[in-house]
Amino acid sequence: MIYMSVTIGTPLQASAFKVLLLGSGELGKEVVISLQRLGVEVHAADRYDHAPAMQVAHYSYTLNMADAEELKQLIQQVKPNLIIPEIEAIATEVLVEIEEQNIATVIPSAKAVNLTMNREGIRRLAAEELGLPTSAYRFADSLESFRAACDDIGYPNFVKPVMSSSGKGQSRLKSFDEVDAAWEYAQTGGRVNQGKVIVESQIDFDFEITLLTVRAKNAETGEIKTQYCDPIGHRQDAGDYVESWQPQAMTPAALEESKRIAHKVTAALGGCGIFGVELFVKGDKVWFSEVSPRPHDTGLVTLASQFQSEFELHARAILGLPVNTTRHSVAASAVIYAGVDDRNLSFSGLNLALSNPDTDLRLFGKPEGFKRRRMGVATARAETTDQARELALRTATQVSVQQN
Ligand SMILES: Nc1ncnc2c1ncn2[C@@H]1O[C@H](COP(=O)(O)OP(=O)(O)O)[C@@H](O)[C@H]1O
Ligand SMILES: [Mg+2]
Repeated sequence: MIYMSVTIGTPLQASAFKVLLLGSGELGKEVVISLQRLGVEVHAADRYDHAPAMQVAHYSYTLNMADAEELKQLIQQVKPNLIIPEIEAIATEVLVEIEEQNIATVIPSAKAVNLTMNREGIRRLAAEELGLPTSAYRFADSLESFRAACDDIGYPNFVKPVMSSSGKGQSRLKSFDEVDAAWEYAQTGGRVNQGKVIVESQIDFDFEITLLTVRAKNAETGEIKTQYCDPIGHRQDAGDYVESWQPQAMTPAALEESKRIAHKVTAALGGCGIFGVELFVKGDKVWFSEVSPRPHDTGLVTLASQFQSEFELHARAILGLPVNTTRHSVAASAVIYAGVDDRNLSFSGLNLALSNPDTDLRLFGKPEGFKRRRMGVATARAETTDQARELALRTATQVSVQQN
């Protein structure tokens, strides 16, 4: 028997197939556009008005998604078929409840969202349950236990609040002298004042990659199959991605090991959708670092390199539709920062940036900029990744940000 996927109705009518996006950033915006193209009715929520994905959704809501009551109320009001958590700061216990009561499907699964929002959950799953190679690590929840953890792990090491992302509250410690200041910083940088940190030994990698891994249903059988995009190389600065490129060259053995790790961790998390599996690579050796159960910022490069970007792959996979992870070009992406703290910014130089036919831009439309806030991205295609990186960086620089 042929498997029957979802039936999509008409948006804004009684038959609508509804998706509720929790978190409406630039990655969500592209997911919304992909869903809109397939006739899905999209509801977008965030903690501030006019967030990027809200601007392309049918309906939008401003609320505190970490508040269980507010979140529950929104879900009852919208009655979505699917809930897509796009950020980590969400009352995830509500999602577990929603899934248990079969009220909506949580993408990719409540378990995945719950485990990955906390570095402790995902690290223990990967290293202790699945036996995947990771850096050495310890957890600490007081200054005293933190000092002991740093001593155990040695230096240099990386310290991260267990509930944080994008480099917030993170430090790289070179010696014991820096321990107390790092503890202070971690306490102010975490998402919630939970206090717990992970201390990780430094992995001396040749390069790091994101292996975009898609769990999508087979069109005929409905069985979930795991597929991979070509590896994406990236450069991080202060815990934030500044440029990415695809493909990242690596040995066949390292690629095979990367896929093995990605398969294992995504299978354990479950559900359908795209995952950004972050890996460190040295020669043939690969370490698992972390995983996002959603499109990954470094994967913005796929807008230029693949027939189906990571956002289209996600949209299709969560609807139970088949996907195609094929890359058609070598490409790179480079981030455009606000460079200033201000609202109502303007962008110029776009004609120069786009004068090369192999370049493209996304401006996210964020109402407020900060010095290090990502406001847009430039992408470029070329013969080699080095050329693509150079062109993407040049394109990003040609966009200038002005205050009004
Ligand atoms: N144990 C480690 N060894 C070497 N580099 C690391 C380690 N942990 C983090 N990094 C560097 O810091 C970056 C951000 O760390 P990550 O754990 O991915 O935090 P975030 O959740 O903020 O992305 C990584 O992409 C990598 O460049
Ligand atoms: Mg990361």
